[in-house]
Amino acid sequence: MEQSRQNTFKFDLHVHTKLSRSIPFNLSDLNLLITHAKRMGLDGFAITEHVNAPDYWETYEQIGRRFLCDSGIYYVEPGFHIINGAEITLKGKGDILALGDIRSIQALDLKLNLSGSYHPTLEQLIDEAPEDLILIGAHPFRPKGGIMKFDPAAIRQLVALEVNGKDFGQEDQVEAAARSMDLPTVAGSDTHYWPQLGIRRTVLQMPSLTIPAIKHAIKSGQSTYESESNGPLMVQICKHHKTAIKTALGLYDNKPGKLIRSVEKEVLGERQDRVRVL
Ligand SMILES: [Fe+2]
Repeated sequence: MEQSRQNTFKFDLHVHTKLSRSIPFNLSDLNLLITHAKRMGLDGFAITEHVNAPDYWETYEQIGRRFLCDSGIYYVEPGFHIINGAEITLKGKGDILALGDIRSIQALDLKLNLSGSYHPTLEQLIDEAPEDLILIGAHPFRPKGGIMKFDPAAIRQLVALEVNGKDFGQEDQVEAAARSMDLPTVAGSDTHYWPQLGIRRTVLQMPSLTIPAIKHAIKSGQSTYESESNGPLMVQICKHHKTAIKTALGLYDNKPGKLIRSVEKEVLGERQDRVRVL
């Protein structure tokens, strides 16, 4: 049987378009990310906004109005695409990236009220997620947001574990855990600001860019990842920028790192009825 031709695609699979979930989405921030990704030689990236961000659905509505979308892949220009996604926080703290068709994420949200800040267990998320979604264990060993504390039997049902851009130094640990669970690894920067984008990216070998092809490439060992040597420096620079901006916007109270919910409400309104049919 004739083998279909494999092409190489480089994607950062973990990207946020804004500094904080409380800051409203802005297309010009997305444009900066696209410009930087092209400069770095990427073929695109996945937008994985926090699904309980106050403007989650409005964000994807705006992106959908700006770019043509086909089954989870936004067309930006020839050779450059954006993958649709979400970051979901589990009960007990731990994050999962879900990549795929926006209708599948909507279906999941309607079942679990994720955008209303319901935090499912890992088992519940796996049971309820539509089959086509690519579920990835984000930053698995991060002290507060890692998933390795959950049942290994549930973790094994994920598509991959992530080697995260903010967690330089943990790659051997993640690789060892993935090997022991017979899972592949993928990589993403977890950027909230453009200079960090692409410091870690997944390299996929597949015939064409579709969600099923990405899933197949990851599961069949047709993917690797790359890291930039200046990644830790970019993370530090972006972290300082993020802190400075959030401080200037009054998003911290007197305990650094703690968001004031009242400010979030003031900026973006109450969290209700945010699931929209696109
Ligand atoms: Fe993230």
